Amino acid sequence: MTPPPPTPKQIILGALLHDVGHLAGIREGGARMITKGVVLGAVNHEVIGAEYLARLRFPPAVTAFVRRHVQAKRFLVATDAGYYETLTEASRMTLEHQEGPMTEEEARSFAQDPQFDAILRMRRWDEKAKDPEAVTPPLEHYKDMCLGFLRESEAAASKAGKKI
Ligand SMILES: [Fe+2]
Repeated sequence: MTPPPPTPKQIILGALLHDVGHLAGIREGGARMITKGVVLGAVNHEVIGAEYLARLRFPPAVTAFVRRHVQAKRFLVATDAGYYETLTEASRMTLEHQEGPMTEEEARSFAQDPQFDAILRMRRWDEKAKDPEAVTPPLEHYKDMCLGFLRESEAAASKAGKKI
């Protein structure tokens, strides 16, 4: 069964938390991506991040953005001629640790993902979000959103559990 499309809040949380695996992976002492002596982040940070958030009870509709954001970069580099130029130097270096651009077969398979469009949109926001001058709501705003979302999800799961 195809899952329902993600809600705006699920997309925002997925975008906000998509790189949490770098922090979790390094904190857990996992392998690091290193180029020319520069630590770029945790190896497989997309998987580490998705699993970390799943343990905190974020649903697959959120963790999918985390798990697939590297695939989205690999897809866009393979299919959009101008995309590579939008990547930061660090993102270009991590791409080398992430198997580089997708093959045609990988891209065809990735395009079947039920959240494909939303994941690509999120990836493009990620490139725009690297502007240090960008004006954003304070971190407290997103903290409240995360906690509220988890409370709502837990209440919905609890309610669904009682009906069974
Ligand atoms: Fe990332």
